[in-house]
Amino acid sequence: MTRVIAVTNQKGGVGKTTTAVNLAACLAEAGFDVLLLDMDPQANASAGLGVRAEDPRLTSYGVLGGAAGIAEATTATAVEHLSLVPACADLAGAVVELANADGNEYVLEYALAGHLASYDFVFIDCPPSLGVLTINALVAAREVLVPVQAEYYALEGLAALLETISLVQEHLNPELAMLGVVVTMYDGRTRLGREVAGEVRAHLGEHVFESVIPRNVRLSEAPSHGLPISRYDATCAGSDAYFDLAKEVVSRD
Ligand SMILES: Nc1ncnc2c1ncn2[C@@H]1O[C@H](COP(=O)(O)OP(=O)(O)OP(=O)(O)O)[C@@H](O)[C@H]1O
Ligand SMILES: [Mg+2]
Repeated sequence: MTRVIAVTNQKGGVGKTTTAVNLAACLAEAGFDVLLLDMDPQANASAGLGVRAEDPRLTSYGVLGGAAGIAEATTATAVEHLSLVPACADLAGAVVELANADGNEYVLEYALAGHLASYDFVFIDCPPSLGVLTINALVAAREVLVPVQAEYYALEGLAALLETISLVQEHLNPELAMLGVVVTMYDGRTRLGREVAGEVRAHLGEHVFESVIPRNVRLSEAPSHGLPISRYDATCAGSDAYFDLAKEVVSRD
């Protein structure tokens, strides 16, 4: 059965896109068929894979608006087995267009129906908000992956996110389950880094992945080359960490 995983946290800049792109790429490198769906108008995941959508219809925006099907909007990437539905800036408009439509929470789920069989994993990179795009992702997904940045305010906003997830479970998608929380941009040399990671584990216990993503300059450079870390520098600490996380994700099935 296809695993559909929403990568989400309404806090900005915590490593959602870096995690979605590199985890998806690591699983594809391991031979799984993976689709990455960019649901953020910033289109960072698309850019990070070197894709710039020319035609807004052939993007997640077009899919949500009914202008294209998932298959039409899907494009290949530099990594074999990794496909992408890119985003474009127009996706911001979908927030307004969907806001007043009946059943607006189910649009992505309906769009994905019938296309899942081609993939082992579908990752959805969410924008930094709990708006209609994220709700669509949480309804279409079966699992949620939450990146948490190892910094002072790491846990701020997490209560609101967990509340949203339980509301979605209750009213829209009873199958939705927490896959796990991953600590990102971790710096083990600082006391703050260690303290925050400890605090996250104390609060979220078994949900927290063993694998921790270190702060690693190669991870921040890779997107400007349009490559996931597995292709940009497969031997750096950031790459090792995402391959480890990929193994854990596979084992948490
Ligand atoms: N482990 C890391 N080491 C170093 N830099 C990182 C790491 N993870 C992410 N970054 C950098 O931090 C910034 C934010 O990361 P990213 O874009 O993945 O966060 P995000 O949660 O998707 O942001 P947004 O909320 O805007 O969508 C980016 O510049 C990214 O390259
Ligand atoms: Mg992002």
